[in-house]
Amino acid sequence: MAENLPTSPSGAVPRHIAIIMDGNGRWAEERGLPRRDGHRAGAESVRKCVETCGEIGVEYLTLYAFSSENWKRPKTEVDALMRLLEAFLKEKTKEMKKQNVRLQAIGRIDLLPERCQKQLHKSIQETSENSGLTLVLALSYGSREEIIDGIKSVLRAVREGHIDEAMIDPDLFGKHLYTRYYPDPDLLIRTSGEMRISNFLLWQISYAEIYITPKLWPDFGNDDLKEAVADYARRHRRFGAL
Ligand code: FPP
Repeated sequence: MAENLPTSPSGAVPRHIAIIMDGNGRWAEERGLPRRDGHRAGAESVRKCVETCGEIGVEYLTLYAFSSENWKRPKTEVDALMRLLEAFLKEKTKEMKKQNVRLQAIGRIDLLPERCQKQLHKSIQETSENSGLTLVLALSYGSREEIIDGIKSVLRAVREGHIDEAMIDPDLFGKHLYTRYYPDPDLLIRTSGEMRISNFLLWQISYAEIYITPKLWPDFGNDDLKEAVADYARRHRRFGAL
């Protein structure tokens, strides 16, 4: 089995959960509230989800917090999301330290507003010694862009003579992706009922179990996460074998 394939045996808690947090906008619209209130409620779901993952022994949690396509949203919404992210990090870093959570980020972080980048690096640095759950925020992230960056990185390594073309295989390529430090997700959750992957971890979810719930992200609570994990535990994973 390739080195970074998911490793949790069937019946166990997933080692790595990845979540497409969808439905903040609809949650707000249903209540006649501005979309930014939906994102704010979504941030509270993030807090709860991190707490539960830490409690049940998940090792890695990757959250799709802002996609490369999200830049196309109206400037007011993008600004609100960036302010929310900055405030969330500022406010929750102390809590993450207490909960032994190590924060990481993947994506084109250099495209985020300066203040956001600064806070992100500060939070990453301040939690870097923690040994519990690794929380990976996908920010300005797009899987196709990541794969293109990976191809460029492999080509550079060949050109500079660090590797030979014949050495290129899935394991080696995985080491040129943003996610090279983490195992592949075992479980992919998407909220709000949409049956799409939306350019999220396309390479890494090859063998992930997929769980889609109609719940909107702000309504996705501890029990919903535990139900998704229980559903995962009931499945029999074969990785293409019999
Ligand atoms: C999708 O809902 C959600 C997002 C685009 C952003 C996710 C952001 C958060 C959960 C809050 C902030 C995150 C952190 C880490 C503090 P949508 O707006 O696409 O919903 P819709 O499909 O109903 O319009």
